[in-house]
Amino acid sequence: MKAVARPAELRQILAEWRGEGQRVAFVPTMGNLHAGHGHLVREASKRADRVVVSVFVNPLQFGPKEDFDRYPRTPEEDGTLLKGLNVDLLFSPSVPDMYPRGRNSSTLVDVPDLSGILCGEFRPGHFVGVATVVAMLLNLVQADCALFGEKDFQQLTIIRRMAEDLLMPTEIIGVPTIREADGLAMSSRNRYLSATERVIAPQLYATLSATRAALASGKSGIEAVEAQGRTILTSHGFRPDYFSVRDAVTLQVPGPETLERVILVAAWLGRARLLDNVRV
Ligand code: PAF
Repeated sequence: MKAVARPAELRQILAEWRGEGQRVAFVPTMGNLHAGHGHLVREASKRADRVVVSVFVNPLQFGPKEDFDRYPRTPEEDGTLLKGLNVDLLFSPSVPDMYPRGRNSSTLVDVPDLSGILCGEFRPGHFVGVATVVAMLLNLVQADCALFGEKDFQQLTIIRRMAEDLLMPTEIIGVPTIREADGLAMSSRNRYLSATERVIAPQLYATLSATRAALASGKSGIEAVEAQGRTILTSHGFRPDYFSVRDAVTLQVPGPETLERVILVAAWLGRARLLDNVRV
């Protein structure tokens, strides 16, 4: 596995591969890799001759009071895992490599209809930071396809829309969430859970699954199941930011044109903010 930090070095290697007609798949990450990332990489390998992974904890997507400084950084473990997965190229730039003019002078990318709702309401500026860094990375790598986990469903929807609106040539692929045996969606932030909280955490997916069944039965309306979901989570000790049924394409409140619905949740458990979703 080659490892580079500078965008110019990355471009050079990619130009060689493209010259040889090789297909490239890209997996952007913030590191602290787990089995969910491993699954993304394996899916990437099925779709291309070469797999590029980036590890960059992007300061632009963290609010001033959020966990940028304490976000888990595990470069050695990440390198070992990626080598074991036969990744061809690891790109791990520094903050000045990505934002040479300083993070406050960066050109920004906004997807206005989708960025201010759900998580965007609770994390102002977060999705502008995500869209901006993903646009930069996609421009840099110019991959044939890029893979993102469906656990961050709003993020995936925003990236799809951005790529479509900005006529980006990379195909955006969503990969189903990988779960622990008890249903908890894998996430780097699960590390923030205490042993007691880890026992409670699977109730997030259990509540989503029960809500999906209630909706599918047609006996309960959207507002009733949303309120019930919030109550159940609160009774288990979560502090829900939202528990919402939305149109799976537009992320707006479902209407007569909605073909598929998704139930999205963001809830705090101790100092971990957990996200999950299920399609209905
Ligand atoms: O999902 C993540 O890890 C990040 O938000 C991403 C897409 C790598 C952008 O920094």
